[in-house]
Amino acid sequence: MLHPLKSSRSSKLSGTVTVPGDKSISHRSLMLASQAIGTSHICGLLEGDDVIATADALRKLGVNVTRQENGDWVVEGVGVGGLSEAEDVLDMGNAGTGTRLMMGLVATYPYTTIFTGDNSLKSRPMARITKPLEQMGVEFEAREGCRLPLSVKGTSDIMPIEYEQEVASAQVKSAILLAGLNTAGVTTVIEPVPTRDHTELMLKGFGADIEVIENKDGSRRISINGHPDLRAMDIKVPGDPSSAAFLVVAALIIPDSDIVIENICVNPLRTGLYATLKEMGAEIEFTNERVQAGEKVADLRVKYSQLKGITVPASRAPSMIDEYPILAVAASVASGKTTMLGLEELKVKESNRLQAIADGLEVSGVEFDLGADSLTVTGGDVKGGGKVKTHLDHRIAMAFLILGMVAKEPVIVDDGNMINTSFPGFVDLVNGIGGKISDV
Ligand code: S3P
Repeated sequence: MLHPLKSSRSSKLSGTVTVPGDKSISHRSLMLASQAIGTSHICGLLEGDDVIATADALRKLGVNVTRQENGDWVVEGVGVGGLSEAEDVLDMGNAGTGTRLMMGLVATYPYTTIFTGDNSLKSRPMARITKPLEQMGVEFEAREGCRLPLSVKGTSDIMPIEYEQEVASAQVKSAILLAGLNTAGVTTVIEPVPTRDHTELMLKGFGADIEVIENKDGSRRISINGHPDLRAMDIKVPGDPSSAAFLVVAALIIPDSDIVIENICVNPLRTGLYATLKEMGAEIEFTNERVQAGEKVADLRVKYSQLKGITVPASRAPSMIDEYPILAVAASVASGKTTMLGLEELKVKESNRLQAIADGLEVSGVEFDLGADSLTVTGGDVKGGGKVKTHLDHRIAMAFLILGMVAKEPVIVDDGNMINTSFPGFVDLVNGIGGKISDV
């Protein structure tokens, strides 16, 4: 059942908050803990539907994953090579990251694993994952266009590969590295453009033999030596910068706002939005910077700021790939034009996000110019008053709810259910600092 939500013009936001755990780190912490010998404890795991789907999938593969009363998660690792055949299909819901990484993880086992998901996930291309894994000797059956439902026929005769990425994708890199864990010899991924490196950092933490070489031109060569004995470890998952982004932009565009968001992952390969907003004139301060389980973490102080339009280069896209919906919202109230380049990948996210952003701006009375892989938004007073189609995309829902908080007329999103995939408690949290989001 659809759950429409409405947001209305809000006065200043204030307060100190935390946001749920980072989605990328949460998926990886469950998967890597499953490959260790011994019991790992995870604190601050994102308990959104996407990560729960990964926990359920691991259980079906024979891993004991439990949630303790205090909210910590416990994973009893089975060791590299220790997963068992699932008796049923793995239903990954809306989770693209969970699916693609799990495909890599199960690829090295000599049995068949079948993946399915919701209509959004079933529309997403998987060839980017099957191509390198086929080179390692894995077989796949999939629907037209290499879409889910899809079966992975793994092999224990797996061959290590050296693979140069065709798209800048942390999911592809991670799937190959996870397959490389259970492959004799050295598996290498070459990234012409660096993408989020949570898998590499966490593999190091678990004791894997992994080497990352950074070249002068910015490209990276990542090699993993197969069949390590991973040591169980305790992981503290920091807050998700992609979730914090919605609150950050809300505070920047609602007059007189001043908020603090504590304990956010500020891995430099995730902070492209923050650099962009600062160039637009945003007052965002990173305080109390520290390193937690190998990841940089900080508290963010954000104050209402007069933003101005800029051009965001294509080269920044990998470090802010999930943040374009909310950047488009910031651009809607900035003075002048904001141009975002290199957006091709947005077309294959949870929705065709480029089109979904454009359609949402259209019904909200925001002026924009949509290119083949670019978007220019002209800032000004936002009319609002429209109903935004979310196409099973959590970030479209959250971004346009924030837009409604600065629009003249309320904004309605057709379905808020998907917010639960990455940001459970979003509505209450926003309302708790002064926002106005309600059921329709
Ligand atoms: C993710 C990588 C990105 C991002 C996704 C999470 C990850 O996808 O959009 O939300 O955790 O590795 P791509 O690898 O397709 O760029």
